[in-house]
Amino acid sequence: MPLYETVASKIVDLVERGTFNPGERVPSIRSLSQQFKVSVNTVKTAYAFLEDRRVIAARPQSGYYVCPRLPEPPREPEITTPGFDPAIITSSDLVLRIMGDVMAPDLVQFGAAIPDPSLVPTAKLNRMLSSGIRRFPQESTAYAMPPGNIRLRTQIAKQMIKAGCTLHPDDIIITNGASEAVFLALRALCKPGDTLVIGAPLYFTFLQLIQNLGLKVLEVPMSPTQGINLEALETALDRHRVQACLMIPNFNNPLGFCMDDDRKKRLLGLMKRHSIPMIEDDINGDLSFSDTRPSVIKAFDKEGEVLLCSSFSKTLAPGYRVGWIAPGRYYDNVRRQKLVTNIATPTPPQLAVAEFLVSGGYERHLRSIRKIYGKRILQMADAVGHYFPAGTRVTRPGGGFALWVEMPENVDSIALYSQALKKGITVAPGKIFSTTDHFNHCIRLNAAFWSEKNRWAVKTLGQLVSRLSSNR
Ligand SMILES: Cc1ncc(COP(=O)(O)O)c(C=O)c1O
Repeated sequence: MPLYETVASKIVDLVERGTFNPGERVPSIRSLSQQFKVSVNTVKTAYAFLEDRRVIAARPQSGYYVCPRLPEPPREPEITTPGFDPAIITSSDLVLRIMGDVMAPDLVQFGAAIPDPSLVPTAKLNRMLSSGIRRFPQESTAYAMPPGNIRLRTQIAKQMIKAGCTLHPDDIIITNGASEAVFLALRALCKPGDTLVIGAPLYFTFLQLIQNLGLKVLEVPMSPTQGINLEALETALDRHRVQACLMIPNFNNPLGFCMDDDRKKRLLGLMKRHSIPMIEDDINGDLSFSDTRPSVIKAFDKEGEVLLCSSFSKTLAPGYRVGWIAPGRYYDNVRRQKLVTNIATPTPPQLAVAEFLVSGGYERHLRSIRKIYGKRILQMADAVGHYFPAGTRVTRPGGGFALWVEMPENVDSIALYSQALKKGITVAPGKIFSTTDHFNHCIRLNAAFWSEKNRWAVKTLGQLVSRLSSNR
């Protein structure tokens, strides 16, 4: 944990124990730096961190004061309880509809998990694109045959050191987004009729992809704080033959949890004992709200049984479609799958993202958006607590921008989706995150679009949910 977070957690502890009460002044930056024997800058950073989390607030010329206690935020959902037998996914036009909503500029975009366009570094990406094309004119119009652009692969390998992973550029294949990375991994590992084990609820586009490949899914319960339930997973693997698993351990979509290293290692150990390769999706790994970048499971994998997938869709620009896969010992097969699927990933976006990473602007950009998304998640979760009826629960993710909301049991999320759409708001109904009906009373909200300007939309959703919950 960085030093400033240790200092901040000591202050939180003092507030929680009542040493400092709401409205009271906390020690000045200078005196705390002397008391804790840390630098003034460390305390300044700790206080800024606490201000973001609304633990303290600065009063001009006066110091820092403990904030009034907010109304108790709603509890987090508990462990999920999906079905326990392999299931065939039914196709859903609803998914197409929800993805299509993204193109409607007048809708409040709480549905698809897309970044806020105002936080996409468009001007800089444009500059990087033209600079990349200028510096590599011939390359820019040629196929970037798999494994893809070498500069980009080198930069990705460097980035992944922060996630505890020592990748060589030649371990990486560039793809059209993380979706294609997962698609290629599934193609390399499974054939129609095979069973894939997943944590439920699961990001709905993956469910559709799995269906398209003719695979069955075995859904295992997850906890919104700890991730996949390892005991339930073990039981499921003892009962069923499974060819591969697909996991999103860092800032999971939709539950938001980040598994700790110990649980990640136990998960990998379990898969190894059953000889099951793992597809790991780390698309949100760079979006931690604290300064600690979580490790990937791939970092603990010595045998090449983890196929690590990611992209720049959440952090830079979803429309660039720049993703990648480090497929371990399945490299040759995945590379062949890539070639026969669409030959190559477009070259100019690869050049632009490589330039962005080389220029060093990526880290600065990440620091800025992580702070903003961290605030938006907190504020939106508070707003849900304020406007949704009693019995509602909402997650507290430590990264990414998805909030999972569990509403009273009798609320039908599809009815809510239709009614909200009429009011100009889109949400992702829980039904599409599973083959079962266990999440029909849940929704996923995209907190990237939270703003005070959009508070009315959360209020409207709350009113619709109240009406739906008292209807029956
Ligand atoms: C967990 C997860 N994986 C993959 C994707 C799709 O990524 P891409 O746009 O890079 O294909 C998303 C998008 O929402 C996601 O949330």
